Amino acid sequence: MDIPVRIRDARREDRDVVAEFTASTFPWGDYVADRFLDWLEEPDGRLLVAVDPTDRPVGVIRVELLSPEEAWLHAARVHPDHRRMGIGTALNRAACRWAADRGAVIVRLLVENWNTPARSQVTKLGFSPAASWVWGEKSVADGAPRVRANGGRRVPSEERLVRSSRSEAEPAWMAYSTGPLAAAAKMLKPFGWSFRTMRYPDVVEAAEEGRLWQCPSGWVIADPTVDGWQVSWLVTTDLDADRIVRALDDRAVASGLRNLLIWVPQVPWAVEALERASFSLHPATVYARTL
Ligand SMILES: CC(C)(COP(=O)(O)OP(=O)(O)OC[C@H]1O[C@@H](n2cnc3c(N)ncnc32)[C@H](O)[C@@H]1OP(=O)(O)O)[C@@H](O)C(=O)NCCC(=O)NCCS
Repeated sequence: MDIPVRIRDARREDRDVVAEFTASTFPWGDYVADRFLDWLEEPDGRLLVAVDPTDRPVGVIRVELLSPEEAWLHAARVHPDHRRMGIGTALNRAACRWAADRGAVIVRLLVENWNTPARSQVTKLGFSPAASWVWGEKSVADGAPRVRANGGRRVPSEERLVRSSRSEAEPAWMAYSTGPLAAAAKMLKPFGWSFRTMRYPDVVEAAEEGRLWQCPSGWVIADPTVDGWQVSWLVTTDLDADRIVRALDDRAVASGLRNLLIWVPQVPWAVEALERASFSLHPATVYARTL
């Protein structure tokens, strides 16, 4: 290692330095500085920084427990001038130690497939691909009919997406847990941008909170975002996928949403249904390592 680093808990005063070196992490910027202070307050997680000999942060990572056994790593960033010196590795190891000390038995993280440095790094650290996902996003123009990307007019759905009652949780769970999407997802589900094992009480909770929706072609869990929905759970079949995606689209328009984001496991017919509905698609992989 060219510069010796020490790993310590992040502090409020580290925020600005971290904001500086993460400002251009990705072409669109980064979210780390915006969330930094909130993360310091959250009890189920830890924000760690790697500091140089002057105690100045040159790297950051966040670890949280999503369930007593399942840890999640994210926000791994190393100052662009200090990469390939083992700092990302040291941060990842410290975060895994924190999780293991608290009883976690598995740690996971998400990497977009284009991100070769991160994929190589986590592979070298012993992580393996656990499930392949695609997230699709689109802006929902208000007012229908709209013109599709292929120039054709948008076909309204034959089905209406309606809010499910609590009693729908069980059939939705049965259909999901025995179906092809759960197998491809390895029963994982995104909660925001963090993935953990999906359990029946999660569906019950979604139904009770009005986030479970249904149409004859299946169910979705739709979590409100600032200006739209993040659909974090889709239950359908290859024959029904187009219909539920279209019903979702119609519901988004009817509800005046601006953006739709949807996660599907990497199953060709599910991804193709999103493609036909003009979502822009982003493949990403959940990696896992036992602790
Ligand atoms: C990913 C990131 C955190 C890695 O941090 P780092 O300190 O540079 O990584 P390390 O020095 O610990 O690298 C360890 C190993 O990972 C692999 N690796 C790291 N960067 C790599 C690159 N650019 N290309 C190929 N392999 C790479 C190598 O195998 C490396 O070992 P080596 O240097 O002995 O060959 C850093 O590149 C970064 O901040 N990227 C931008 C933010 C980001 O993408 N974060 C991850 C989001 S999921």
